[in-house]
Amino acid sequence: MEKFVQQIKRSHYCTDLTAANDGQSVVLMGWVESRRDLGGMIFIDLRDRSGIVQVMVDPKQASVGAAKDVRMEYVVALKGVVGRRPDAMINKEMKTGDIEVIAERFEVLSEAATPPFVVGDDKVSEVLRLKHRYLEIRSAKMQSILKTRSEAVQVVRNYLSQEGFVDVETPILYKSTPEGARDYLVPSRVNPGQFYALPQSPQTLKQLLMIGGLDRYYQIARCFRDEDLRADRQPEFSQIDIEMSFVDEDDIFASTEGLAKALWKSIKGVDISDFPKMTYQEAMDRFGCDKPDLRIAWELKEIGALVKGAGFKVFDDALENGGAVKGLAVPGIGEYSRKQFDQLTDLAKKYGAKGLVYIKSSSTGELTSPVAKFFTPDKLQEIFASVGGENGGGVLIVADRFSVTSAALSALRLSLAKELGAIDESKDRFLWVTDFPLLDYDEEENRYVACHHPFTMSKDADVDILLSKDSERYGDVRAKAYDLVCNGHEVAGGSIRIHRSDVQKAMFDALGMSDETTERMFGFFIEALKYGTPPHGGIAWGLDRLVMILCGTDAIRDVIAFPKTARATCLMSSAPSLVEKTQLDELGVALGDKAIKNLESESAEP
Ligand code: AMO
Ligand code: AMP
Repeated sequence: MEKFVQQIKRSHYCTDLTAANDGQSVVLMGWVESRRDLGGMIFIDLRDRSGIVQVMVDPKQASVGAAKDVRMEYVVALKGVVGRRPDAMINKEMKTGDIEVIAERFEVLSEAATPPFVVGDDKVSEVLRLKHRYLEIRSAKMQSILKTRSEAVQVVRNYLSQEGFVDVETPILYKSTPEGARDYLVPSRVNPGQFYALPQSPQTLKQLLMIGGLDRYYQIARCFRDEDLRADRQPEFSQIDIEMSFVDEDDIFASTEGLAKALWKSIKGVDISDFPKMTYQEAMDRFGCDKPDLRIAWELKEIGALVKGAGFKVFDDALENGGAVKGLAVPGIGEYSRKQFDQLTDLAKKYGAKGLVYIKSSSTGELTSPVAKFFTPDKLQEIFASVGGENGGGVLIVADRFSVTSAALSALRLSLAKELGAIDESKDRFLWVTDFPLLDYDEEENRYVACHHPFTMSKDADVDILLSKDSERYGDVRAKAYDLVCNGHEVAGGSIRIHRSDVQKAMFDALGMSDETTERMFGFFIEALKYGTPPHGGIAWGLDRLVMILCGTDAIRDVIAFPKTARATCLMSSAPSLVEKTQLDELGVALGDKAIKNLESESAEP
């Protein structure tokens, strides 16, 4: 029999079909999701990217005989007639549950080996799913996420081009663009001994476009950062990268909010209007972190003045050393056991706390605490109330350096809110965090590092501290830097830039870079700043994080077609992998001891 797909084209996607197509002849192509043999008939759930439709085959007919041999994930083509299902067979769970297609021709286009897991089963190990990512991409969940991602990018492109932004591609083989991570390096065959760095972001390039007079730039830009990975970080990820000339912070806020509104309207069908602002300091004071999840109502309280000299040495010592004593009231933990509080203490310790004090309240307001003996009952009551404790709830207290109390209590706030279901998921909550410090002292490196990146401008009032090289006061310099936070994720971050070469040089100076290093790494950039640079600034959205929020997932791997593991490897292709010695020779690159040892230990593994 002549192959009928050569004569005929697919007429519909599976879920295009409805009862309105009753009696119509259609041609479908797709994968066998499942097959059941019932009462002499074969029922096949046929899947394509739109979803599933049921196909009924009478195997006694020669023209559809091929259906007898199909198994899971076979690729098939069929011609058939749409029919309404008998009432008893209607499946309300399925989009096409009231119809089926009665096959008249049936052909196997491609057989499939038994798949290592059933498509759509997300209980199988992630290792197996990543190894066969193409099978997971067949699942309804991945199809839906990848479509949402594509739609989001389309909204971004439409919005930004309407607003006059020009999409420009910038090089991937480039020079270091520091954003606080390590660079991925690429050796140059034509220039042995020299390396390109993959951009951590197109930061300097977009600024050079402003110097080039482009005025408004955007790019969906791939960025590469060799850093420790987490649930919301990948070594290569995408940014919606934006830069504008002749602007200040307010202009960037307005433009970013416009884009957020367009995205939420198109993708989620909701109008968002609430973009509160909070300084970095206020966010740290009230929530202990610079990306607070405002869907959780609980806030941290400073109680140093209240507990000072009241009799508990741990608190007094922390205060005497210039630290803080902070508390967090959590409703509903008044009945927590000793073991549960021990677990909370362990979590606090992970963030550097030396311990965790708790005061818990019975439903009638009776307080218990392991440190009750250090305080009068009235004092204990006062502490509990001033942190905001309620009957049946508890108060958690950490005494330490400000940064440690913040980190520990912020982690407890998040973890307990998840555990107790205290996150209000009815709507997405945005927050601008502004006025970040420009510089942060790095104890390990013994020098200041840029909080955002080295191209960020200080607040106008603080620029003299930089120019006068008053290193004692570097920690006081505030930046024109801002983050857009959504549901506790930093979804976008940016700043107004330094547009004067003297200020830029002073910044590199503050970062402890020698003149020679500055010249070698950024000489071209400082020179460019001299030739007429407009005041400018911008922002970059983490596209992957944005899609995570739009799709309601908390794993960045879910929203990237081919993601990498926490060890920055691709389980599907086994990248990174060995290369031929001749290739290394050509590049003028040799493996050092560290590499050789690693390869030996890997080949020794079973
Ligand atoms: P920043 O480093 O804050 O700023 O990055 C901007 C946004 O990119 C996302 N992001 C990441 N997403 C996934 N994996 C990662 N490893 C990762 N790192 C960052 C975050 C973040 O908010 N050039 C500046 C922007 C500017 O100043 O205009 C920059 O890259 O969502
Ligand atoms: P200790 O005096 O070390 O036995 O601690 C008494 C209680 O205080 C224990 O519950 C500790 O977990 C807690 N604790 C110890 N250090 C701190 C700290 N820095 N902040 C808060 N609680 C602490």
